[in-house]
Amino acid sequence: MKTEIAAVDAEHPQADVIARAAEVLRRGGLVAFPTETVYGLGADALSEAAVRRIFTAKGRPANNPVIVHVNDVATAQTLTTVWPDAARRLAERWWPGPLTIVLPRAAQVPDVVTAGGPTVAIRMPAHPVARALIAAAGRPLAAPSANPSARVSSTTAEHVRRGLGGRIEMILDGGPTPGGLESTVVDLSGPTPRLLRPGLVSAAELREVLGDGLIGVDVHATEADDALPSPGLLKKHYSPTVPTYLTADDGASRVAELIANRQKVGWITLGEPHVVTPTPLVRLIVLPAEPTAYSARLYATLHELEAAGVAAIVVQRPPPTPVWAAVLDRLRRAAAE
Ligand code: TXA
Ligand code: MG
Repeated sequence: MKTEIAAVDAEHPQADVIARAAEVLRRGGLVAFPTETVYGLGADALSEAAVRRIFTAKGRPANNPVIVHVNDVATAQTLTTVWPDAARRLAERWWPGPLTIVLPRAAQVPDVVTAGGPTVAIRMPAHPVARALIAAAGRPLAAPSANPSARVSSTTAEHVRRGLGGRIEMILDGGPTPGGLESTVVDLSGPTPRLLRPGLVSAAELREVLGDGLIGVDVHATEADDALPSPGLLKKHYSPTVPTYLTADDGASRVAELIANRQKVGWITLGEPHVVTPTPLVRLIVLPAEPTAYSARLYATLHELEAAGVAAIVVQRPPPTPVWAAVLDRLRRAAAE
């Protein structure tokens, strides 16, 4: 299949380009599009056949449910059987925005979307291209991150093309996504709210709305993947194709070990490292020591190093403070065995 890449203005998406993409979706096709977090791979959420194609294109295991993207609360309410007060308050504060809410599913949501489970994950994205596309398609869009399963999410159309080109009908190229990390996922389907995936909305911010009852799920402390509340929380996920090491120091000694074996190494630090070994084997990328700016660039940096053909990636671990929680979560998964 030939994948069409269509440029679109991120702030004021051209109506004719959006209309064409929406037509592809209405016919059951797949369209990748930018959101404020990462690129999504969209399909008509109410079509079992269309959503099935997402799983095929990504090589995604059928037991991993996908997020449904909507433009308004009224549509969200048609996808679930309840709309608790907590959902109303979360949506009021963060929608449209990088927050996904898990609720009991309504009967019209196809099994393939929920992986056969009793709940559905819903989010209202803020990106103008995502909003225009959902509106033009006239239906909710199922959209996981637009990358081959278990790989690093895409923050540019070029990342999507490299990962999924030839497998999907269309990519809307709206430039780099501003957030750079996936949405925060909160489960409101049980008696106590649970944070399933840290993201751009922090746990502290969520507690301002949900109170102290919010339970964090530490996937890194869980041994068996199949015991996890959400299969997408597999410890190893969001991984580069090469071994990735997270180091407590700036990583200089690990880099030295690797290049001693003549391996080409990608090295990601926060601020300048202590020892710089000027050698063609090391590709050093210094990221900002501030979580928002770091998040915006992390995945693009991992993609860049993969494309450069490094044999390993060494990452200096950011401080273990709450503001770095989402970044640390993704780095620990990237470095998981
Ligand atoms: O920012 C984002 O959330 C991006 C953009 C495209 O919206 N999407 C995204 O989708 O990251 P994906 O499929 O890569 O990650 C969705 C996560 C997975 O961990 C999945 O297991 C979890 O949400 N999830 C989806 N439906 C769920 C459900 N019903 N219950 C629990 N977890 C669910
Ligand atoms: Mg993903």
